[in-house]
Amino acid sequence: MEAKTLIILLFAIFSTFNLAVGGQAYRGGWKLLKRSIGISAMHMALLPNDRIVTFDRTDIGPTNITLPKGKCKQNMDCYAHSVEFDPSNRNVRPLTILSDTWCSSGALSPDGVLIQTGGTGFGERVVRYFKPCVDCDWTEHPNGLLSPRWYASNQILPDGKIIVVGGRFQFSYEFIPKTSSSDSILYQLPFLKETTYKEWVLNNLYPFLHLSPDGNLFIFANDRAILLDYVKNKVVRNFPVMPGGVARNYPSTGSSALLPLKLSVKRTPDAEVFICGGTSPDSNEKAIQGIFLPATKTCGRLIITAANPKWVMEEMPTGRVMGDMILLPTGDVLIINGAAKGTAGWFNAIEPVLNPVLYQPGTITPTRKFEILAPSTIPRLYHSTAHLLSDGRVLVAGGNPNNFYNFTHVVYPTELSLEAFYPPYLRSGTSRPIITWLNPAVELGYKMKFSLGFQQKMKAQLGNMYITMVAPSFTSHSYSMHQRVLVLAVDSVRQISVGKYAVETNAPATAVLAPPGYYQLFVVHEGVPSRGKWVHIK
Ligand SMILES: *[C@@H]1O[C@H](CO)[C@@H](O)[C@H](O)[C@H]1NC(C)=O
Ligand SMILES: *[C@@H]1O[C@H](CO)[C@@H](O)[C@H](O)[C@H]1NC(C)=O
Repeated sequence: MEAKTLIILLFAIFSTFNLAVGGQAYRGGWKLLKRSIGISAMHMALLPNDRIVTFDRTDIGPTNITLPKGKCKQNMDCYAHSVEFDPSNRNVRPLTILSDTWCSSGALSPDGVLIQTGGTGFGERVVRYFKPCVDCDWTEHPNGLLSPRWYASNQILPDGKIIVVGGRFQFSYEFIPKTSSSDSILYQLPFLKETTYKEWVLNNLYPFLHLSPDGNLFIFANDRAILLDYVKNKVVRNFPVMPGGVARNYPSTGSSALLPLKLSVKRTPDAEVFICGGTSPDSNEKAIQGIFLPATKTCGRLIITAANPKWVMEEMPTGRVMGDMILLPTGDVLIINGAAKGTAGWFNAIEPVLNPVLYQPGTITPTRKFEILAPSTIPRLYHSTAHLLSDGRVLVAGGNPNNFYNFTHVVYPTELSLEAFYPPYLRSGTSRPIITWLNPAVELGYKMKFSLGFQQKMKAQLGNMYITMVAPSFTSHSYSMHQRVLVLAVDSVRQISVGKYAVETNAPATAVLAPPGYYQLFVVHEGVPSRGKWVHIK
């Protein structure tokens, strides 16, 4: 072998090694898990048994999956509009939804039952329940809501109830499940009327809700935000208007996330809301005329617990409408799916943005930056979704900017596929911490001290590791409802033996910080999360 060839060969080997192990250049990866799950995933939730439940709408006609014999009821189209997906074996199980769930909302209840609310037509006031067990199916309760809720948003509250806010032409909120007399009251919320752009282009649907550490509910709609004392039905704070004249809610769909709450045993943490993407208020009207306006690059950060909150504006590397903001176990924000031009709605967007973006907010570690990640090959436009899995991957599915399941004669065919995105922390060769035990194993109480063990080949100490608890969300229309990351206060990290560590830590102090329910617990070491372990707090 000539010396020159040898050098080239060595260089090639070295650079491959560098890409795989050195890590700097690894920008995440994609894997197609299923070419078709039979439906286009418009809504998605993760259950504590690590299965994904997803559903579309029931009035869309034939899907690509039928119900098993005996499940098809009279006056039904016999196609499944909901499926359960098991990431461990990629099995798809058709589920039965009878009333229309189109553009609805949901939440995982404190006892681990998926509760889904509203939709359209005969489904607009239905509350549906899905229990995570073998062969379980949806049960539906007509008239479970006081008002029709189409494009509403949900949030779990400290008492375990779910607040359902808004919906098309619904300037009100209510609580479910309806177990006490106050649950039969419909509370008015004029803010939802005041933030309406136009009667048919509302720009304030699917309002962004975040539970503040002071117990009030932060509500963002269009480009404005309030803090609501939902018990007294009183707006306790009006935040400054988000600058830029950009609309952020449906159909000018941006996304929103509560940045990680850094818990301490001594004080209540500050809370910061982060909203990215959206487009100019008239973008929907223009798209209908065939003019696709560019999506915004801007994001805004607002410390909602500050004495004088002010928006701090930032710019994403590229503009995006209908992007999903997914909180990763590290506390970083993944912005994924969506388009560079147009708005939500059928046929209303072009130029899919295939590259996700990672945002490090600088709240846990000092780095604050955006980074462009590896692209998918599948456009995920209107009606696409994403959800964090316990193994640290992000499931990505759906996308249907057409009014039926159209696979031909349309620019963006209906997407039935399901992919996994591997964030950069999953680069091969990385040593991941492994949680080996938890004490107590599952049930945590507020303020409780608890301990856990983990394995990691590399040195771990207080300064280079932390523990997060991630609340699973209900995701639809680019907004992950109830998504929440808590960074626990760690008392000590002790090395037990080679590569084995024990951690003393603290459960969240109150149900305001961590509403009751299931969370995925992660150890993050040098920016690399373990697989999550389900814990439950109440
Ligand atoms: C869905 O079904 C239609 C009609 O049978 C078929 O043409 C299409 O290829 C299927 N699509 C997928 C992704 O399975
Ligand atoms: C989409 O599919 C529906 C139902 O099959 C059909 O009626 C409609 O014409 C299709 N639309 C387009 C743009 O192909």
